[in-house]
Amino acid sequence: MPTKAVITGIGHAVPPKILTNDDLSKIVDTNDEWITQRTGIKERRITSATETSSTLGTEASQNALMQAGISATDLDLVICGTVTGDMMFPSTSCLIQERIGARNAGALDIGAACAGFIYSLSVASAMIEAGHIRNVLVIGVDTLTKIVDWTDRSTCVLFGDGAGAAVLQASENTDRGIIRTVLMADGTGAPYIKIEAGGGLHPVSNPASLEKSNHIFMAGSEVYRFAVNAMGEACCKVLDEVGLTPDDVDLFVPHQANLRIIDSAAKRLGLPPEKVFVNVHKYGNTSGGSVPIALSEAVSEGRLKPGMIVLTVGFGAGLVWGANLIRW
Ligand code: ACO
Repeated sequence: MPTKAVITGIGHAVPPKILTNDDLSKIVDTNDEWITQRTGIKERRITSATETSSTLGTEASQNALMQAGISATDLDLVICGTVTGDMMFPSTSCLIQERIGARNAGALDIGAACAGFIYSLSVASAMIEAGHIRNVLVIGVDTLTKIVDWTDRSTCVLFGDGAGAAVLQASENTDRGIIRTVLMADGTGAPYIKIEAGGGLHPVSNPASLEKSNHIFMAGSEVYRFAVNAMGEACCKVLDEVGLTPDDVDLFVPHQANLRIIDSAAKRLGLPPEKVFVNVHKYGNTSGGSVPIALSEAVSEGRLKPGMIVLTVGFGAGLVWGANLIRW
């Protein structure tokens, strides 16, 4: 039988501090009713100064390794999907690799914003299936609240911090594992979600770059229209490629950005609410953390069990989008 990449452990970590919609209404001109109706978000988690993507990623990784029942020294590779690494470099995956003690593993970051985990899972499973490596840790994490503009009500209400991690292991005698992934991108949408300062174009060492925003800029309605299309497109494509239909899906775990976007994707696929996992009300949009946190909670709530077919989908800055079809 061909080598499959099976998720043998999943875990997540979120900071303890909760910021509710009512708390936000004291900071910017907003209210619980607007945020709930437009996004479905009720509260989100916020990192302290000492909590970062690497600290959350480390905790989520340790939880995933414990569930998988393997040691960090068994890992061949650590992949971290993030756009809010602790530093420009070294990579956040290297910081996590050191903290968990994965001394036999390589480490790399993947920058695909809210689709970071979808992209990272795809790379990890392809390397396992090709026979290059056997044990991979995939982390999705972001701490966007550190770079959000707290005076911009159209973005600051949307984001929260969190991490999820999965252990993928090679297995030869199973029908479990990653069935298929699709990855898509459209760079013409790059202006819709961006942070201009801090890169090579507007380095922080250049005083002129200070005029460029250090905070998230997002053209909300453009991203909304793109997201509604992209989610459905990626899901239909990944199912079509393996001859499955939405009826074959046991659990749909979409990127948790906005309840209206999730509902419209589920409607397009004809999936009933009991097959759709939602936790956006608790965490807001945790970007790279969103899908793995949802998978981890779905497992701990008993909604995702070995053998079930799970469909994940995500979209984000780039623009990028993609989907994973997994037999859990
Ligand atoms: N509270 C109260 N009113 C607000 C708020 C707020 N927090 N934010 C905006 N408004 C107002 C606007 O000013 C506007 O008022 P106006 O009509 O007087 O001008 C009105 O509400 C409607 O604003 P819209 O932007 O049209 O609201 P919309 O229904 O489109 O919802 C939202 C905005 C929630 C941002 C939506 O566009 C969305 O979810 N977009 C997708 C965002 C996303 O998913 N991003 C993911 C990628 S992020 C990444 O990759 C890092």
